[in-house]
Amino acid sequence: MRVLVTGGAGFIGTNLVRRLLSEGHYVICVDNLITGKKENIEDLLDKENFVFFEQDINEPTDYGDVDWIFHLASIGSVYHYLNHPVETLKTGGIGTINMLEYAKEKNARILFSSTSEVYGDPEVHPQNEDYRGNVSSIGPRSCYDESKRYAEALMMAYHRKYNVDTRIARIFNTYGPYMDPDDRRVLPNFISQGLKGEPMTIYGDGSQTRSYCYVDDTVEGLMRLMETDYHLPVNIGNPEEYTILETAEIVCEVMGIEKNFVFMPLPEDDPMRRRPDITRAKEILGWEPGVKFRDGLKETIKWFQKRLQ
Ligand SMILES: NC(=O)c1ccc[n+]([C@@H]2O[C@H](COP(=O)([O-])OP(=O)(O)OC[C@H]3O[C@@H](n4cnc5c(N)ncnc54)[C@H](O)[C@@H]3O)[C@@H](O)[C@H]2O)c1
Repeated sequence: MRVLVTGGAGFIGTNLVRRLLSEGHYVICVDNLITGKKENIEDLLDKENFVFFEQDINEPTDYGDVDWIFHLASIGSVYHYLNHPVETLKTGGIGTINMLEYAKEKNARILFSSTSEVYGDPEVHPQNEDYRGNVSSIGPRSCYDESKRYAEALMMAYHRKYNVDTRIARIFNTYGPYMDPDDRRVLPNFISQGLKGEPMTIYGDGSQTRSYCYVDDTVEGLMRLMETDYHLPVNIGNPEEYTILETAEIVCEVMGIEKNFVFMPLPEDDPMRRRPDITRAKEILGWEPGVKFRDGLKETIKWFQKRLQ
């Protein structure tokens, strides 16, 4: 297959690109490096079956013929999208239209990486794909949440109107190697602070929950979804749920360090509970996460140690 990966120098993109290359696909990686890092893919640049375009997907571009498009480009971390709200909305809107037009022109299959943030601060728990969400259209996080909801609407519109072969993955918190240690997401924050001997920052009282999926599991879910013919959204995430406080305690335990926490006020719109219902993924993809949290953390910490050196 000739596979286009937008956002391919970002965290999940880098892991996906490596998986695709290991299966012998030809990979066209596109990234404007707004949050991604060239060093993530540096070792791939001289491979015969890999090409990198440093390019903003909001500009229509000719990438040659493609069979599959994994459309991952977006600003994934809260810290960065709050600093780049307009770019985030443009990429979800204009960038997604450009990729859908490209898929239509090339007759390619396209998978969009949506997010659990489309559920906002959910009133149902756990969240299944039929839940329509509780999202503020004007809050600070709306630039991300609404860009994803709009992009999902675009995917469905292109599918219904032009029969574009679309897939929608609603990804929940994912972690693992190639995460940016400085991007202020929960686990990178805790691990970086732990490695530097700093106290771990907990927002609120730490009773809000998250669930964490190891990136190899997420990538497996994306690959399986791409290979089905299912057009409606599918949750990809790990249903094991931890409070933020428990998360920090487990990170300390796996790192073998003393607990040392500092508490800060909870940011506006921070969701209180998050846990995917993955019944659909199990039924349609035969997928469920396999990597245990402590095992995934060990791999992630090793990688962070290398990167921070
Ligand atoms: N990591 C998670 O926990 C998670 C959870 C839910 C959804 N997602 C989604 O999965 C995708 C990948 O997330 P990630 O964690 O790897 O984030 P990331 O920020 O590490 O990667 C996204 C990549 O997209 C690139 N990009 C952004 N705007 C672009 C543009 N206009 N043109 C070209 N490239 C652009 C960035 O430079 C970056 O390399 C994103 O769409 C994100 O919204 C991730």
